[in-house]
Amino acid sequence: MTGPDDGRRGGLSRRRLLGALGVGTAGVLAGGAAGGALGRATADDAAGAPAPSPTDAVPFHGAHQAGIVTPAQDRLHFVALDVTTDSRDELVQLLRDWTAAARRMTAGQDAGEVGAVAGERYAPPDDTGEAIGLPPSGLTITVGFGPTLFTTADGVDRFGLAARRPAPLVELPAFPGDQLDPAISGGDLCLQACANDPQVAVHAVRNLVRIGAGVVSVRWSQLGFGRTSSTSTGQDTPRNLFGFKDGTANLKAENGSALDRFVWVGDDVEGTAAEWLRGGSYLVTRRIRMLVEPWDSSSLDEQQRTIGRTKGSGAPLGQRAEFDPVDFTTQVDGEFAVPETSHVFLAHPTNSGTAILRRGYSFVDGSDGLGRLDAGLFFIAFQRDPATGFVQVQRNLRLDAMNEYVRHTSSAVFACPPGVRDADDWWGRALFG
Ligand code: HEM
Repeated sequence: MTGPDDGRRGGLSRRRLLGALGVGTAGVLAGGAAGGALGRATADDAAGAPAPSPTDAVPFHGAHQAGIVTPAQDRLHFVALDVTTDSRDELVQLLRDWTAAARRMTAGQDAGEVGAVAGERYAPPDDTGEAIGLPPSGLTITVGFGPTLFTTADGVDRFGLAARRPAPLVELPAFPGDQLDPAISGGDLCLQACANDPQVAVHAVRNLVRIGAGVVSVRWSQLGFGRTSSTSTGQDTPRNLFGFKDGTANLKAENGSALDRFVWVGDDVEGTAAEWLRGGSYLVTRRIRMLVEPWDSSSLDEQQRTIGRTKGSGAPLGQRAEFDPVDFTTQVDGEFAVPETSHVFLAHPTNSGTAILRRGYSFVDGSDGLGRLDAGLFFIAFQRDPATGFVQVQRNLRLDAMNEYVRHTSSAVFACPPGVRDADDWWGRALFG
């Protein structure tokens, strides 16, 4: 229902709010276009394939790396690493060895050809063994290259890669309210292992780290226990630790035209130096602590107005069902149903002017010594350019009512190369070749 209201509530008109956010007419038009792309993609959804069995293998070879638009698995082990060698040859050999091990593990095999128990009695096994007998469990392993792989923070071109750094691959800017811990931020390389069995994901990261001994060292890592997004129309929408459905309005795997527009690095990359990244994507991670104790003592109304959706069905406020379109003009009792400071209002393409593929996981890392859970969302987003993806949305969230309940404690950005094509290909071949 739309009332005679002129668009004002609480003294702030929508036009003025958008102006205050730096989203002018052009931005809104861009947002409209973004929404249009998402809308068109809904038509693509009709061809959506059913979700595979949770124990199946996900193909390792392809034009794009698995683990990006792959229907989000239930568990995550993410690790960021620093390269400790100065030898380019050692780094290249590691990427070749990692590719071979990832190819095997994603097929449900041991990390090495000999395996955990069939090898030489007096030598360490080439697999650690904890996944013996477990199915592939949808394991995907996705690799990414951080800005510091190309040029160190003090400007050193360690591996002769500086000239091949794509222009968008720069450290993320600071955002108001950031409480980042450098010890769990950044990294030269990352490995994202997702699976439907936590032991399979942990086994994958453990073995890749083992193979990398002497060449890389772990900088930080994060376990995630429940996907917070659906990335396929075949999946149910999960709930995050605020108890809300998360991923309803996400980009989806079946959404080809929108993925090309917002997720994959296309043919228009600037200059030939970064051609190696075509078909790849940029990965942004943010460890976001959720202050669950104050959230749990806030009213249902406050929670719903903070998100902009109902807690039960996930419907946009003022609508009836989860997948009803968000309509910012709908009014209830003379007030806009979706508050202008709600998360959905500010994150929606109409107002942010862009879209990202969210693929995050919940975490609980124990408690903080003050009787509070150290819990939250390990936010993962894929986009074709961080500046017009995560950074643009996050800037638009600066008036987000949710900010009262969240703290960003870690941050990283990586360029994920395209997929490994066949048995002779390896992660980063186009970059190092
Ligand atoms: C702990 C932090 C966060 C929580 C609990 C959270 C939760 C949610 C929820 C419940 C929704 C509505 C359901 C949906 O459409 O998926 C949503 C939507 C969304 N969120 Fe977040 N979110 C968080 C952080 C972020 C961040 C950091 C970004 C990006 C900078 C972001 C971007 C989005 C976008 C783009 C949407 C879809 C909006 C739309 O098109 O309607 N979220 N989020």
